[in-house]
Amino acid sequence: MSRITRPVSTPCAALLAAAFLFLSHGRLRSIGADSSPQTGAGVKVSEFRLKDATGRLRSLAEFKERKALVLVFIGTECPVANSYAESLAGLARRYEARNVQFLGINANRDESLKAVAAHAESFHLGFPVLKDNRQVLADRVGARVTPEAFVLDAERVVRYRGRIDDAYASRTKKRPEARARDLEDALEAVLAGKRVANPVTVALGCLIPRPQKAVVSGRVTYHRDVAPILQQRCQSCHRPGQVAPFSLLTYREARNWAAEIKQAVSGRLMPPWLAEPGHGEFQDVRRLSDEELRTVVQWVDAGAPEGNPKQAPAAKTWTDEWFLGKPDLVLTVPEPYEVAGSGPDDFRVFVLPTGLTEDKQVVAIDFRPGNPRVVHHVVSFVDPTGRGRTLDAADPGPGYSSGPGGIKVPGATLQGIWAPGNLPRYLPQGVGRPLTKNGDLLIQVHYHKTGRVEADQTKVALYFAREPVQRVASTMIVGPFNIDIPPDAARHEQRASLTLPVEMEVLNIMPHMHLLGKEMKVTATLPDGKQEDLVWIRDWDYRWQDSYRYKEPLRLPAGTKIAITAYYDNTSSNPRNPSNPPRRVRFGEQTTDEMGFAIMEVIAGRPGSAPSAQ
Ligand code: HEC
Repeated sequence: MSRITRPVSTPCAALLAAAFLFLSHGRLRSIGADSSPQTGAGVKVSEFRLKDATGRLRSLAEFKERKALVLVFIGTECPVANSYAESLAGLARRYEARNVQFLGINANRDESLKAVAAHAESFHLGFPVLKDNRQVLADRVGARVTPEAFVLDAERVVRYRGRIDDAYASRTKKRPEARARDLEDALEAVLAGKRVANPVTVALGCLIPRPQKAVVSGRVTYHRDVAPILQQRCQSCHRPGQVAPFSLLTYREARNWAAEIKQAVSGRLMPPWLAEPGHGEFQDVRRLSDEELRTVVQWVDAGAPEGNPKQAPAAKTWTDEWFLGKPDLVLTVPEPYEVAGSGPDDFRVFVLPTGLTEDKQVVAIDFRPGNPRVVHHVVSFVDPTGRGRTLDAADPGPGYSSGPGGIKVPGATLQGIWAPGNLPRYLPQGVGRPLTKNGDLLIQVHYHKTGRVEADQTKVALYFAREPVQRVASTMIVGPFNIDIPPDAARHEQRASLTLPVEMEVLNIMPHMHLLGKEMKVTATLPDGKQEDLVWIRDWDYRWQDSYRYKEPLRLPAGTKIAITAYYDNTSSNPRNPSNPPRRVRFGEQTTDEMGFAIMEVIAGRPGSAPSAQ
């Protein structure tokens, strides 16, 4: 029986994997002969007959009148391929007028014709997608990843193979805008009868699973060793309808993504968790232990052996109930908000009037995205000023737009933060956060785009104090307001500090920067000179804005100095740099501005002390 795995076989993937191996294990694995770029250009494509998504047989001959053909290998679950759906559909329409035919090719064996049809429809591809289940065409041209494009001239000779453009600087780093449009350049050259200047580029994306010899047993097997890790660490996001682009619930799914899984875990990109271990003791840590990481990597290296299903852990069940039980109040965004398929990330603020008739103390808050595929994180605020309503009224559609920074409402106070996989927790006994009856709850939702238009209507659940509250939790922000980053600075440093006027307990900490942010460290120097790290983010990624909750509230005496050091990369080699060429960047709320905060939830005073000043 043949089995399918994703071998580490693209040149870039192999290099990346080797780099990760080198970094994490200090040794370099031999990459193998097939890692050298295969040209593919120059290959003549002969007649084929493949089913399209509607089940109809299509052949190359059918398009013989066309001056050029573009074959684009795509998958239904690959986030990189999906992020190109809109631009591919646009290119196909534009070049149709010039007698060029675009054909999507799906060579992923585990993706059914039905799934391919549903995908083509919901992403409005507009061009036929052919199912190359036996990978005849994929093998003929040597396609390795999705998305990868092949331009065939009138003789059906491959004149270009590779990426669509250079928007992806690496698998997980996307530039705000592409600088080189390789596919279009190649098409223009072919249509003009000219030589293609760059006939081969490296496509970044998801490996097309190729058949491999079955590996059933091994020292590390899926059912016994790997499934429990995926259950605990991955499935909260990697299951149908959640934020991750594909599921990791079954052996086949895990096996098909094995090479990507190895890269993602070795590089500590997955599970997302930016806080460096040993710098702050946090609750609900998502990071894999070194042991878990080793197990997953060994499993992939051994060829992803399945093992004995009898040793599998019981499937994890997921419930739709609120984690803390029935909330006292659930607020819902009044109407669905439509999220565009592509373009920069979208930060939208929604105004939720509470309808309360008396003041309350909130002791826990939870969030439920209406459409988990697009909701990357949610931050909630209390707005006693009514300014949110004004902004909402002035902006068409539900809510209003903001940058990744503030919500444009001075005087609003932060209430809670949610990211996929976060569990809600109660504040310590006797502690609450006030929600006055005339205040609105504002939620800022960070949407990321899936390639197709999606709708979302997020809900917030509030739990109120039943007992009198003695102490109030509030938000403390440390960070520089004088940010001024010259263009081309590779490691621009900004510092700020404050000294606590009273004793405080710190419950959690949320580092916040925008696209140029690279690194942030927050330290506390106690009055006796002892220094403690509160958090260290060594490799900032604005897409994972988490609030890290301490295992035990950190008690810091009056006179403690909290200092923050943040670093920014304003060079053009930072793929996320929103300005090209780089420009001077100062403090501000827009995506093109910067911030550098540590936002902490704190309680002033000590347990049992008199009610703190409000
Ligand atoms: C908190 C939610 C979350 C958890 C937990 C999580 N993932 Fe992901 N994962 C995502 C999201 C969201 C993406 C898509 C990222 C993107 O679009 O750039 C992703 C992408 C990936 C990718 C593809 C990366 C790429 O190269 O494009 C792999 C592989 C992956 N996850 C593996 C894992 C594994 C293995 C685990 C557990 C050990 C895990 N993830 C845990 C949310 C999560």
